[in-house]
Amino acid sequence: MNTPANIHPVSHRLLQRADKEALLGQRACAAWMTGLSGSGKSTIAIALERMLHAAGRFCVVLDGDNVRAGLNNNLGFSEADRTENIRRIAELAKLFVQNGAVVICCFVSPTAAIREQARTIIGTEDFIEVFVDTPLEECERRDVKGLYAKARKGEIKDFTGINAPFEVPASPALRLTTINRSAETAAETLLQFLLPRIQRS
Ligand code: ADX
Repeated sequence: MNTPANIHPVSHRLLQRADKEALLGQRACAAWMTGLSGSGKSTIAIALERMLHAAGRFCVVLDGDNVRAGLNNNLGFSEADRTENIRRIAELAKLFVQNGAVVICCFVSPTAAIREQARTIIGTEDFIEVFVDTPLEECERRDVKGLYAKARKGEIKDFTGINAPFEVPASPALRLTTINRSAETAAETLLQFLLPRIQRS
């Protein structure tokens, strides 16, 4: 997007991404997990963060419920609000990537257009789409937050998978299944996928 009038960013005068990556001894990227509410994104992120940390990698987790409790607490779940939610988050993720971090993003990000927006903001090179593929029936069976029950009773409108769409990613970089598989195991799979990508050559 174009810089608004009367705004003069100083980014080019700051230390650059390569300086930060050299300091940290890693290559930055954003692993973008998309999937239904309750699919396991956050649980996988919690495990993955610890694994990456133990491997000496600097990472940051951005999670839907956390970001919506603060930065985005003025946004709901209409299509427009979700688009704005993801726009801000993608800008945030980009900022972290530009500063050398491995960013682990967990957002329902339910439509192809919303994910495309994130990819465009972050940059295709740095955007790794990971589909946490847990079927709706399983998310609803787990119903960790009790939200599916509420949505079925009509107490939550625009609930993804119930009365708002979830478009399955057409070609994610990685698809993680979570049935008969622990979050630790799924995180391990994602870790092995990411390690070569964040290795400095
Ligand atoms: S997104 O669609 O804009 O990407 P985001 O990942 O930030 O969603 O937030 C999703 C989380 O908000 C869910 O995990 C769930 O806990 C909560 N939530 C509350 N209302 C809804 C809703 N209508 N649809 C989906 N998730 C909801």
